[in-house]
Amino acid sequence: MKLTTLLVCDAGLDKRQTIEDLIHSQPSLALVSTVSGGMAREQIGSLHPKLVWIELSPAPVRGLSLLAELREAFPEIYFFVSYEVPDPELIRTAYRLGASDFLDAERWRTDLPAAVQSILLKHQSESVSTASGKVVAVFSPTGGIGATTVVTNIAGYLGKYGEACIVDLDLQFGMVAHYLNLEPSFSLSTIDFSHTNFDSTYLRNLMTKYDDKLSVLAAPPELEDIGDIYAAQVQEILYTAKQEFRYTVVDLPKNLLDERAIATLDLADHVLVLTEYNWASILNTRKCLDTFKAHYNQEKLLLVINKSEWLPQDVLSECRANLNYPVYHEIQNDPKTAKWVINQGQIAPPHTGLGRSMESLARKITGGEQLLLTQKEEKGGGGFKFPAIFGGPKKQK
Ligand SMILES: Nc1ncnc2c1ncn2[C@@H]1O[C@H](COP(=O)(O)OP(=O)(O)O)[C@@H](O)[C@H]1O
Ligand SMILES: [Mg+2]
Repeated sequence: MKLTTLLVCDAGLDKRQTIEDLIHSQPSLALVSTVSGGMAREQIGSLHPKLVWIELSPAPVRGLSLLAELREAFPEIYFFVSYEVPDPELIRTAYRLGASDFLDAERWRTDLPAAVQSILLKHQSESVSTASGKVVAVFSPTGGIGATTVVTNIAGYLGKYGEACIVDLDLQFGMVAHYLNLEPSFSLSTIDFSHTNFDSTYLRNLMTKYDDKLSVLAAPPELEDIGDIYAAQVQEILYTAKQEFRYTVVDLPKNLLDERAIATLDLADHVLVLTEYNWASILNTRKCLDTFKAHYNQEKLLLVINKSEWLPQDVLSECRANLNYPVYHEIQNDPKTAKWVINQGQIAPPHTGLGRSMESLARKITGGEQLLLTQKEEKGGGGFKFPAIFGGPKKQK
């Protein structure tokens, strides 16, 4: 787990550079941006960092009132406060206002690792105590790769390990209910967030059952209905689902700038990034993985190849090298079953190629099997190369 970190610094370029270097030196921290005090609130709202580091110079009192304001607006965020010297009055006030740590320039180099470790532990124990289920988000940067097929089938197989649900966040063109041949009476747009008892019972009532082990929260049937659903509400739905279901599988929209998608990616325990072994899809996936890697570790970010079929070894190696990320699982190309499951509104039976691939993916996700198919190749900058099958290394970044 990486903690996305936002630095708030009005102290001039030198100080700013020093703190940014310190943040970069910590493997568990990922700096998302550095902003001035005046922009902090807005940027936190759009970047959703887990940790905010406030440098108090040049005006410590103003810095502390910013801390108070931000703590109130974003109670779930951790705060570090730093200052030139360990002034006892500032330290006391910072802790009273809810800072997790006070770092002074004389000792921050030595103190920072322990400070980071302490919030990581806090963060993990908080996530464990508030919820026990796992959220698995499925994302493919390219359409038609099979994301929705994977969502319905992986949820079906995860259901064998504990009750599962699907949240269809492909709000505009959600197909989950259709793929499972369901006729939902309610959808995401029916949810009334002002409902006094927004709890698991309420959420469950809005879901449609596929069978005893699988329920679906469908996407809104009309395009007009999606504007009213906000990121914070998606988080609320997922938190609640996590408490009620062992597995919550989310079908994501293709648009990564969608704040609801970002909120889901952050909250998910696993993000399955789905691609095929074709260059357009590999190119998009690489772009996406390069960004995601800065935020999520390898247990969370899982690369899955769909429609996998026999390829010459050198082509296969080039595809994998271009992805520059370990392949977690490959799902067999099985057009016949893939078509049948959608037509019938069913989960792929275990004797089919698709079914077998899904069964073993589900087993891995439940922790039964953690082996990766390939290791990331360490050498070189890993620029994108076109595999020989597509006309050789035409372009290089
Ligand atoms: N493993 C697979 N083998 C063969 N065809 C597949 C496989 N997975 C999905 N498909 C097919 O790919 C097409 C797109 O699937 P869909 O799940 O709607 O993709 P997406 O949600 O990524 O747009 C469908 O025709 C589906 O039957
Ligand atoms: Mg889809």
